[in-house]
Amino acid sequence: MLTGCHGLTFMDALRKVWFMSVILVTGGAGYIGSHLCKALAQRGFVPVTYDNFVTGHRWAVRWGPLEEGDLADRARLDRVLERHRPAAVMHFAASTFVGESVANPGKFYRNNVAGSLSLLEAMRDHAIQKLVFSSSCAVYGAPLQLPLTEAHPQRPVSPYGFTKHVVERLLADFGRAHGLHSISLRYFNAAGADPDGDAGEVHLPETHLIPLALAAVAGHAPPLTILGTDYATPDGSCVRDYVHVTDLAAAHVQALMAMEHFPAGQGVAEAFNLGAGQGYSVLQVLAMIRQLTGREVPAVVGPRRPGDPPLLVGDASRARQELGWSPGYSSLATIIETAWNWMQHMPPA
Ligand code: UFG
Repeated sequence: MLTGCHGLTFMDALRKVWFMSVILVTGGAGYIGSHLCKALAQRGFVPVTYDNFVTGHRWAVRWGPLEEGDLADRARLDRVLERHRPAAVMHFAASTFVGESVANPGKFYRNNVAGSLSLLEAMRDHAIQKLVFSSSCAVYGAPLQLPLTEAHPQRPVSPYGFTKHVVERLLADFGRAHGLHSISLRYFNAAGADPDGDAGEVHLPETHLIPLALAAVAGHAPPLTILGTDYATPDGSCVRDYVHVTDLAAAHVQALMAMEHFPAGQGVAEAFNLGAGQGYSVLQVLAMIRQLTGREVPAVVGPRRPGDPPLLVGDASRARQELGWSPGYSSLATIIETAWNWMQHMPPA
């Protein structure tokens, strides 16, 4: 038997390298999860997608093995963790429509909270000690001051935001009790598509501004409804902080690396905002789409959508300083150009 350094056999050493590179990605067939799988594969990791395909797409699983399954299925999770022995987990699988969470909160508590608990208990039992969590700026609720920093009080207004808040708390508690290291990434408005056209946004139904506006321009959807022009904002429409999905994916890889420096033996739970730090109103987004596509966005003005805060802009300086995050794709023009390119080439839903 070949013996390498530190008493490891050659095969042990090889297996260690291999297993260190395997990352389980729950929700890897979804919008942000699929971009993350590409980012991981490009950096030499093996992303194993775990997805139940309720909202994910089979065509989106291109950068590593697929394991079909539900977070609630503990026996299935156990088999997958045993088979792949991931070095870490990136956890995206969740229900995400804010409005739906108000109408059907039970679904969100079951999928997001109970699903995460099932995953964390499986990780604990398989001694997997690192997790990056897909959180949201929705944990903050109505902003008391802008831009929002991580220190802003957390008073989520929607069940969706509350489920993200609860899971962050679960992560901290599992850190204290079981030594789990975790980083929660609180996204502002994820938007755009892979610059090479390899992945992009396909939600059914679609509720997000940029894909709906581009579909209206392309004639694939009815005119966009501008959800309120009577807000206390400079032009009366809501202001959001749009951040490119490729930049979000890069932040996850950097978070994974950062956890290598967390002290052994005691769990650390950190959270970082991910936003571009620049707010754009709905009307400004439509103006940019007109400028870039050369076409007017067919649109009508409608009433406000319940639960929409007037202004949301994030301060991501902590992620820049501590993770070395440097969002290179998050200008509004690049977000819209990549999303428009994706709309021309995306597979049928
Ligand atoms: N909007 C329209 N018309 C539409 C859709 C959206 O005018 O048809 C407006 C909304 O009112 C909002 C802006 O466009 O002002 C962006 O809306 P999105 O639906 O694209 O995104 P949200 O801001 O509602 O959602 C985002 C994230 C959620 C997060 C939430 C926190 O997608 O994950 O912010 O408020 F929870």
